[in-house]
Amino acid sequence: MAHSLPEYAGRHPGWPTRLGPLTVSGRQVELRPVKLGDGGAWSDIRIRDEKNLIPWEPSTPGGWARRNSPAEWPGRWWLLRGAARRGAALPFAITVDGRLAGQVMIGNVIREPLLSAYVGYWCDARLNGLGVTTAAVALAVDHCFGPVGLHRLEATVRPENGPSLRVLAKLGFREEGLFRRYLDVDGEWRDHLCFALTQEELPPGGLTARLVAEGRASRA
Ligand SMILES: CC(C)(COP(=O)(O)OP(=O)(O)OC[C@H]1O[C@@H](n2cnc3c(N)ncnc32)[C@H](O)[C@@H]1OP(=O)(O)O)[C@@H](O)C(=O)NCCC(=O)NCCS
Repeated sequence: MAHSLPEYAGRHPGWPTRLGPLTVSGRQVELRPVKLGDGGAWSDIRIRDEKNLIPWEPSTPGGWARRNSPAEWPGRWWLLRGAARRGAALPFAITVDGRLAGQVMIGNVIREPLLSAYVGYWCDARLNGLGVTTAAVALAVDHCFGPVGLHRLEATVRPENGPSLRVLAKLGFREEGLFRRYLDVDGEWRDHLCFALTQEELPPGGLTARLVAEGRASRA
């Protein structure tokens, strides 16, 4: 059936914004734009979690310690803020009980005719397995298919990344295929599975409503 594309005022509908809270495992999960003052906490987590992040994140020429030092953050933040202002990204910080706990990155936003973007994420290992990332990505996805007006979101994951595959499964992302030698991760071109979700596949009320109905989260 034919449908009409929405018209939006402004360059980047739905940005900037804060999303949540959702409560998971007794903790309040929220999303907000990354900010310049995140550098210290961002660096602390990423230096501590090097072993947990390196197998899944794009390779870092220059070494992990330097590329994740507090001094690195202002430049990264500037690029992220610029991309957000151009309407190309929604760079969210995940906060848990008000503290930085990770990131959900909606990137490569392409408006008409595709209305698509990718979603990427990472979370402080001390909070892994509590449902934080699942809740955070659900908030971001509902926002992207709502106020932002996107139609398709894509996520690519190494087949070995059990926790990330589980996050996408819990959210109902659909596997589309294998991208061979897709991304340079940990010094090699690595195969990635591609998952996607389109707006028509959202359950009634969105992904957050379904997480709440399943008892995986509650609205604080
Ligand atoms: C992937 C990642 C973001 C998940 O964050 P999280 O907050 O722990 O995610 P959640 O708690 O919402 O869900 C994790 C799920 O994986 C499950 N899990 C944990 N280890 C697992 C494993 N080895 N194999 C399969 N599932 C696993 C957990 O039990 C949980 O599922 P459940 O709720 O059914 O029990 C986090 O592990 C991380 O930051 N990893 C490093 C960076 C990364 O991989 N980013 C994604 C790149 S595509």
